[in-house]
Amino acid sequence: MSFHNISVFASGNGTNFEAIEKAIEEHRIHDAKIVLLIVDHKDAPVIDRARRLKVPYAIVERKDYESKEKYEEHILALLKAKEVEWIFLAGYMKIIEHTLLDAYPNRIINIHPALLPAFKGAHAIQDSYDYGVKVFGITIHYVSKELDGGKIIAQKAFEYTEGETVEEVETRIHALEHALYPAVVEKLLHEEK
Ligand code: GAR
Repeated sequence: MSFHNISVFASGNGTNFEAIEKAIEEHRIHDAKIVLLIVDHKDAPVIDRARRLKVPYAIVERKDYESKEKYEEHILALLKAKEVEWIFLAGYMKIIEHTLLDAYPNRIINIHPALLPAFKGAHAIQDSYDYGVKVFGITIHYVSKELDGGKIIAQKAFEYTEGETVEEVETRIHALEHALYPAVVEKLLHEEK
């Protein structure tokens, strides 16, 4: 079984990043290491998690680059230097463009807090709640050129309990994510030769 260097990209809180790191520590994900966390905002709470968990991180802010291409080229150089094989987006709120997509074909994975193709975009939980859906869920998928549109790898769903607030729904969604994402990471890393 070969060893895999992985990178996680995050923009915010970082609970999914922590769930993946914990799964590695607890050997629910085997023969893998998060060699680099990419964060796109210097104030993101995920940075404190990375410090606490002693995971190397790099803050790469779009505003410091003249184009999205240059921004991604810089990220790519960091990933190559660490020999990263897989990228797992975990609440990374930027669209991945061709520079990274071409460098990592079928090796960039995203988690989305809705049952795609419903409720694409950055506010999926609130959007589904406002729409009044009775079945909520999460999707893990390959990242492609189309926003939230790549091939689906796994989904989980649950039924809405009448009277639940959006915060309660969000808590249930996160609990599902923290279980499913590490399981999918493990499967993807080790189902190939
Ligand atoms: C997660 O719910 C993830 O599914 C969502 O952001 C949250 C990040 O939480 N991603 C998207 O909405 C992508 N469009 P976290 O920072 O605590 O892991």
